[in-house]
Parts: sequence; structure tokens; C-alpha cells
Amino acid sequence: LVGSSGAILSYIMCRAMNRKFLAVIAGGFGTSGGSASKSYDGEVLAITASNTSQALQQSQNVIIVPGYGMAVAQAQGVVNEITKKLRGAGKNVRFAIHPVAGRMPGHMNGLLAEARVPYDIVLEMDEINDDFVETDIVLVIGANDIVNPSALTEPDSPIAGMPVLEVWKSKTVVVLKRSMASGYAGVDNPLFFEENTRMLFGDAKE
Ligand code: TAP
Repeated sequence: LVGSSGAILSYIMCRAMNRKFLAVIAGGFGTSGGSASKSYDGEVLAITASNTSQALQQSQNVIIVPGYGMAVAQAQGVVNEITKKLRGAGKNVRFAIHPVAGRMPGHMNGLLAEARVPYDIVLEMDEINDDFVETDIVLVIGANDIVNPSALTEPDSPIAGMPVLEVWKSKTVVVLKRSMASGYAGVDNPLFFEENTRMLFGDAKE
């Protein structure tokens, strides 16, 4: 039972990452090809929590992208409180879930369900990826690889070909993380250098 469920989960994960099963088992991320440290044009612009709050108040369409860092920070309860406030103010708030966000299939769905985020505003990548263009602000909460545009633009990247959430197409992106460190795949993220990206540094729960 353990072996076959492990194999099924690995298969689901490989499909989500557009990778061959054997390549994942035998290889691994960031271990071959591509350079792990790249420099990108543009500046890293930080934002404060109060300015993020202001930006949220001025926005109508909001998408929240949770990742592994939300689980580390155990921020799901606070995220639900913020969601309730925004929805109470009449804003359209939705969650975008990447199939390999976190460290196991359904990781984010589980955390959001535990925090009592309503199911109908939690959408899978394929359901919501086209909507970023019409979105005022995206909150990326402790996610990194799943929002990395280099997966689409850099053929030599270790994550090349993996479908990602195209958050950079929205008007503003606020990324919550503690540093400029890379995620699980060990690759830098040009999203952090985009003109419309702001970094809210610190623990996501704080
Ligand atoms: P990651 O790419 O691993 O990025 C998570 C980010 O969270 C890190 O860059 C980290 O940056 C930040 N973080 C950690 N603790 C934090 C905290 N307390 N507060 C705020 N931010 C924090 O995660 P992802 O975007 O969810 O992508 C998942 C990755 O895991 C993919 O590469 C996927 O292939 C891999 N993976 C997934 C699965 C499944 S099935 N889900 C299984 C195995 C592997 P700082 O250190 O700067 O804070």
C-alpha cells in the first residue's frame, strides 16, 4: 500500500511538473544543467506591511498564491482573517493553487480547509491562470518555484517546462518571504526583479 500510493503521488507530481518519472527518480532539481545563480536586470523593491494593507484596500480583484512558506510560518489562520476582511469590504478574493505547491499533493488545500477558507474561492492552476491579467494585486505567500517565470523563458533552467502560476501578468505582485533565498529547486527567481513586484520581507505570519 505504501509503495503504490508513493508511486501514484510521484506520478501526479511528475505530471504537474511536466517531468518524466524516471528523470525525477534518477535526477533531482538543481543538480545538473542550468546555472543556479543568475543576475537579473531590475531592482528589488521592498514594501512595508502597512503599504501592502493600503494597496489591498485600493484593489478590487485579489488573488492569493500560497506556497511552502505559508506552511512553515503556519500563516493559514491569519490569511483567512485577512480574506474575511477583504471579502467583507466587497472585494473579489480568490486563491490560486499550483499542483506541486508545498511539499505534498493537496498540501495547500489541506491547510486552507483547516483554516476554514471557503472551498469555492480556492481554485486550481488551470482554472485561474488566465485571470491574472485582470487582477489588481497578487499576494504570493511563501511561494517561489511555482511562480518562477524562468520555467517558461529559460530553456536551460532546471525547472524549464514546468507550468507556473503567471502572477507577473497582474498589476501588482507582493511576495512575502524572509530573504532572497531560492526555493526547493534551488533556482533564482526573476519575478523578484520585475517592475510591478514588491517584496514584503519577514515571516509570513507576522
Ligand atoms: P518553494 O519553491 O520551496 O519556496 C518556498 C519559499 O518560502 C522559500 O523561497 C522561502 O523563502 C519561503 N519561506 C520559508 N519559510 C517562510 C516563512 N516562515 N515566511 C515566509 N516565507 C517563508 O515552495 P513552492 O513555491 O510552494 O514550490 C514547491 C516546490 O517543492 C516545488 O519546487 C516542487 O516541485 C517541490 N516539491 C513539491 C512537492 C509536492 S507534491 N507539493 C513534493 C516535493 C517537492 P525564504 O527562505 O526567503 O523565506
